[in-house]
Amino acid sequence: MDHMAGRTVDVDRLSHMPRGGPDASCLDRLLQTNRQEYLDRDSDAPADVARKRSVIRALDWTGQVFGNHEKFAKIALDEVADVADPRILELGAGHGGLSRKLLEWHPTARLTITDVEPASVAAIAASELGSHPRATVREMDATAMDAADGEFDLAVFALSFHHLPPPAAARVFAEGTRVATKLLIIDLPRPPAPLHLLRLAAMLPWAPVVPFVHDGVISSLRCYSASALRALAAHADPSIDVELRGGLFGPQVVVAGRHR
Ligand SMILES: C[S@@+](CC[C@H](N)C(=O)[O-])C[C@H]1O[C@@H](n2cnc3c(N)ncnc32)[C@H](O)[C@@H]1O
Repeated sequence: MDHMAGRTVDVDRLSHMPRGGPDASCLDRLLQTNRQEYLDRDSDAPADVARKRSVIRALDWTGQVFGNHEKFAKIALDEVADVADPRILELGAGHGGLSRKLLEWHPTARLTITDVEPASVAAIAASELGSHPRATVREMDATAMDAADGEFDLAVFALSFHHLPPPAAARVFAEGTRVATKLLIIDLPRPPAPLHLLRLAAMLPWAPVVPFVHDGVISSLRCYSASALRALAAHADPSIDVELRGGLFGPQVVVAGRHR
């Protein structure tokens, strides 16, 4: 048992929740894995560090070329449209591409750009973001945020939530809605199982040779369904309201906040 936001939570039951949610079909339950992505490996071995950096660079490149940074920045700015000078926390920033776009598009937004991975934080800090007058770059764990209650108007966690097993993912809901008025999670969609199988079949041949595809296949098997996201938020705190959008072909968008 564990205590989260004053509520007793059955962590064992939560740990075993399928990525497809409590009522996932048998086929959907097969389409998940506990295998780690390169990004999840806790290793300083040069080959592992090189693979991680390669995945992060590929994410930045695809974000620029396929417009994800712009798409995600638009979604984030819509959530703070009525705040004059929004304070935005980016969690799991990886390369900083989303924060870069937010700073470019919003003239007074202040960004705290974070990741749990020291090498990514160092690379972002060494870029122009490290000396941007409206940006702070630092390490932060999305499951245990080193920030005061209500310090931010928005916390955004893009393409990262699926990295976390259910108990840690529930903590992101609790922590994100504690430090920010709104928590925005943007992640891969979990398609219906037959479509999911097709997506995996197209990616699998490349997975052993391209680190980005290797991590993409595992991400696809680990992303949460809409019902899983609702269950995670409810476990975190019953006072968390969740709005879900998109999620079949486009990214899955979750906006969470606490009703008082
Ligand atoms: C797939 S990358 C996404 C990077 C970027 N947000 C994007 O949209 O391309 C996942 C990121 O989540 C970070 N991450 C994983 N677990 C985390 C945690 N507990 N707290 C904060 N960041 C985490 C990883 O270090 C990595 O940078």
